[in-house]
Amino acid sequence: MGMAAEDTRTVIDPLALRRAFGTFLTGVTVITTVDSDGKPRGMTANSFASVSLDPPLLLVCVGKSASSYPAFTGSDRFAVNLLRDSQIDVSNLFASKASDKFASVGYDVVHTGAPVLTDCLTWFDCTMHEHVDAGDHAILIGRIQAFGTSPSAPLGFCRGRYAQVKDPLPPGWLSSNDMIIGYLIEAQGQVLLVSDGKGGWVLPTAPRKLVNGRLPVTGGGELSLMSDDTFLYSVFDVSGHDSGYLIYRARLAEPRGALALPTGYRFFAPSELPYDEIASTEVRAMLRRFVRESEHGGYSIYMDSHDGGRLATVGAAQPWVRHAQT
Ligand SMILES: Cc1cc2nc3c(=O)[nH]c(=O)nc-3n(C[C@H](O)[C@H](O)[C@H](O)COP(=O)(O)O)c2cc1C
Repeated sequence: MGMAAEDTRTVIDPLALRRAFGTFLTGVTVITTVDSDGKPRGMTANSFASVSLDPPLLLVCVGKSASSYPAFTGSDRFAVNLLRDSQIDVSNLFASKASDKFASVGYDVVHTGAPVLTDCLTWFDCTMHEHVDAGDHAILIGRIQAFGTSPSAPLGFCRGRYAQVKDPLPPGWLSSNDMIIGYLIEAQGQVLLVSDGKGGWVLPTAPRKLVNGRLPVTGGGELSLMSDDTFLYSVFDVSGHDSGYLIYRARLAEPRGALALPTGYRFFAPSELPYDEIASTEVRAMLRRFVRESEHGGYSIYMDSHDGGRLATVGAAQPWVRHAQT
């Protein structure tokens, strides 16, 4: 007769065990939910694990001594926000007993209603699939309803200390996933182009999506764009190039005349656009469409496809309405 597992237990020193667990290198997450009063609650947790792809499940363990324990086990939803390498302060804040941890940290309601940190490496918005009682913790198993990720470097944690990950992206990742993000910037009817240094003109580009409407420009400085007036305009591939192009139509926030343009940048009136000095057929065609549409005051969005591309009419530009992404 085998002995019951419970009878074979030996004495384990919890502190020594904690140190042994701590040798496992993890990322750092902030798990969030809303309590029964509707108040956002959150705590730092590194006990995260992916569980299943189909159905999409993850888990995280919440200690029974955490003051947000009842909020998590009593809720039907929670979010897991993985932190970026520059978010040690966010990790420390959510590992503290501060009474309002969300006072200084932005969050959005995305799908389930659990707070999703506006700035993080990756987030998973979950409904509670199941919670399992396990010793001094509860295992929360979440079913992922929505998620998002970014190419930033993750924050690491090992042996009780934060750790940096040296090469956050595998070689080739950027070149295979990169989109060139270009801006068709208009100010009082004129369009901003930048010299390619070889006698040609190209659209200004940005390294990534803008933050607060600021477009960093090569050579230093930045241009201020009207955030509520920045619209997707065209998505296309250029033959012979790996990257796709994603072009936004935008308007300068300040008057054109008031701006000290960095070298190489120049505004062109629609009738003076230097089509012959723009190498890309796709960009030329897009500018022609822009000039045509500006005259008629209605815009469309273009997306290329194997059989020639599609246009969707946007109609009169409307101000953005704040809308949670689902
Ligand atoms: C890097 C790190 C990872 C942590 N991981 C967990 C965890 O997985 N589960 C847990 O219950 N607490 C974990 N904690 C501790 C909680 O964040 C801490 O107890 C917090 O004060 C709980 O907040 P609350 O009492 O406001 O709910 C971790 C702390 C840090 C700094």
